[in-house]
Parts: sequence; structure tokens; C-alpha cells
Amino acid sequence: MKVLVTGGAGYIGSHTCVELLNKGMDVVVVDNLVNSSKKSLDRVEQITGKKVTFYENDVRDRDALNRIFDAHPDINCAIHFAGLKAVGESVRMPLEYYDNNLFSTVVLCETMRDHGVKNIVFSSSATVYTGGNEMPLRESSTTGMCTNPYGWTKYMSEQIMRDTAYSDKDWSIVLLRYFNPIGAHPSGLIGEDPRGIPNNLMPYISQVAVGRLDHLNVFGDDYDTHDGTGVRDYIHVVDLAKGHVAAIEYMQEHKGEHVFNLGTGNGYSVLDMVKAFQRVTGINIPYEIAPRRPGDLATVYASPDKSAEELHWRAQYNLDDMCRDTWNWQSKNPMGYAEN
Ligand code: NAD
Ligand code: UD1
Repeated sequence: MKVLVTGGAGYIGSHTCVELLNKGMDVVVVDNLVNSSKKSLDRVEQITGKKVTFYENDVRDRDALNRIFDAHPDINCAIHFAGLKAVGESVRMPLEYYDNNLFSTVVLCETMRDHGVKNIVFSSSATVYTGGNEMPLRESSTTGMCTNPYGWTKYMSEQIMRDTAYSDKDWSIVLLRYFNPIGAHPSGLIGEDPRGIPNNLMPYISQVAVGRLDHLNVFGDDYDTHDGTGVRDYIHVVDLAKGHVAAIEYMQEHKGEHVFNLGTGNGYSVLDMVKAFQRVTGINIPYEIAPRRPGDLATVYASPDKSAEELHWRAQYNLDDMCRDTWNWQSKNPMGYAEN
């Protein structure tokens, strides 16, 4: 089996390449490196001892994509990770987000159809669920009313794919709604390498630990949660990557459009995360309580039941594993891929 992985040099894509290669699948990556380094793929080869075919191209470049499919007539399916993902940036630059995230989806699906490849897994997000749903979030929970352009691009991409599957019954489309991926490959060779000051909690904590940042700002301590800070469903990135392998296996037997949550079903607060990181690493994380971040919800966590029953996938790593592997990566690569 040969898999086209768009955005395969990125955080989740590189971890998924490892799991695909470990399963004996061949991997062709197309990535324009707008938010990643080619070094991640060198490390993927180092971890697996296998070769990754890499094309430095934009997924919106139709000619390039056609050439890739022509060169690899045995591509069986695609995983579409490529996209821009910073919520705040999407509010400032909505047109760039709609252009990148929607056109990449349309051009990829058209090119696949033209080459008779009709199996695709898409990186969606828990952000497509409407605020105000009851917890845990199930795949049937209400979606829409997104609070930022990034969220809308995921919602609209899902709809584009749903309509595509409806129009042609040969398609098999799996929409994976990720909760909060953290951690890194246990080797410490690949991990999350955000550009600039991290927006997300765990990269921020680990940059405080490594001395790149001074202290953590905890966005609000007056939510209706057990300690007043926001609660999320953190999932180890290796578990998330394995969810993609499960989705590819599922697609071989199931046509149509299918949605699955990739989360653990456990909710941890910001202060739970700080304490777990301190306990596992022995490093103190200074923090200050700051105002709430606009758009944040008090509590978000998944029901993982449908994924367990139908995909036969369940997260295996616990919170200590996530903290240990985050720190292993960050301490071995204090400047991410830049230094190495
Ligand atoms: P990432 O930025 O590390 O990876 C995305 C990759 O896509 C990068 O390597 C980037 O260079 C590439 N890319 C972007 N636009 C491209 C284009 N037009 N053509 C070719 N390559 C392009 O992000 P990630 O955390 O690995 O996320 C992967 C996917 O999962 C994204 O679609 C993201 O929106 C989605 N997602 C991520 C999270 C998360 O917390 N990390 C949560 C939910 C959903
Ligand atoms: C954010 C995005 C979401 C995206 C997800 C995964 C927003 C509003 N939402 O979700 O669309 O799918 O990342 O990439 O940006 N926190 C702090 N201090 C920090 C950073 C975060 O206290 O410096 C808190 C937040 O308030 C939240 C929790 O930590 O309660 C997790 O935040 P984050 O890692 O940004 O993830 P989400 O908010 O779940």
C-alpha cells in the first residue's frame, strides 16, 4: 500500500509517517515546508530505517500534484494534513486561511478523482463542535458556529468532502476530529516545533522548562472546573498517529463518509498539566494567573467510544507518558529542528 501524505513534514504528519512505515506501507510526502523542516523526514527515516519519498510542493499546485500522481500510479489513498493551524493568525489573515485550507482540499480531491484514487483521511478538529454542547463530545454532537476562520476552514472542508462522498459512492472519506495532541515520539528525534511563541499549552510549558520562556500565563482561573482552569482532552501524538493507520485499514472495508473523534475521553486542567509536567520532569514551572483567552471554553473532551467500537482504536499512552515524551524531545532539541 502506498499513501500520499500532505503536510507530512509537520508535527502530526511526521509521527504518522513513522507509524505507516512501521506497518510496511510506502509513504510519499508533499509539503511546502511553510511550517516545518525537511529534517523531520530525515529523522523519520532514521527512526524507521525506511525511505520517505518527498516532494517540496504546495498542495494547491495542481500541475505538481498531477505529476506526483502520474509518477506513483500505485498510490492507494491520501492523508490530508497540509494546512495552516494558528487560530489567532486566522483571525488576522482570514483570506490566507481560506485560500490555503480550502483550495488545498479541493485541488487534492479533484486530482485524486482524476487519477481514480478515492480514499482520503482528513485532519479535522474538535474545534468544529459548537460551543454549548454537552460533554463528552460525540460525533453526533452539534457542529458549526465556529469562533474563528481556522475553525470554519475545518468545518467547510468536512462539508466539501461529505458532498464529494455523496456525489460518487466509490469514495471512502474518513474525517478525524483531533482533540489536543501533545507529546513526541519516544525516541526524542521528532516532535512539535512551533514557530515563534507557542499558542498552545504544552509547547509553552516545555519552552518554560527549557529556559526559552520565563513563566506560563494561565488563561483564567475562574472557570466552572475542579480548579477553575480550562479542561481539555490531551492525547499522545503517537496514539493519534496510530488512529490514522486504523482509519486507513477501516477505509478498505467501508465506503462513504465517516467521522471519528481522536481523543482519550479524559479531561485535565491547565494546573493538572503543570503539576504532571513538574512531577515527571522534576522541573519547576513558574506560572501567573492571567485573564481568560477570548473564545476559550471551560471544558472540552471527547467520547472515544465510536472510535473504539468501529475503528478498533483506543489511546494507550497516559498523561505521564505525554509529559515524559514532550520533555525528552524538548530537552534533546531545545531549539527544535533549527539547531540540529
Ligand atoms: P503542522 O503545521 O506541524 O503541519 C502542517 C504541515 O502542512 C506543515 O508541514 C506545513 O508546512 C504544511 N502545509 C501547510 N500548507 C500547505 C500547503 N498549501 N501545501 C503543502 N504543505 C502545506 O501542523 P500539525 O499540528 O501537524 O497539524 C496537521 C493537521 O492537523 C492540520 O491540518 C491541523 O489543522 C490539524 N489539526 C491539528 C491540531 C493540533 O493541535 N496540532 C488539532 C486539530 C487539527
Ligand atoms: C486550541 C485552539 C483550537 C485548536 C487546538 C489544537 C484556540 C481558542 N483554540 O485549542 O482551535 O484546534 O488549540 O491546536 O486557540 N492555556 C493557558 N496558557 C497558555 C496556553 C493555553 O492557560 O499559554 C490554556 C487554554 O486557555 C486552554 C488550555 O490551556 O484552557 C489548552 O489550550 P491550547 O493548548 O491552546 O488548546 P485549545 O484551547 O484546546
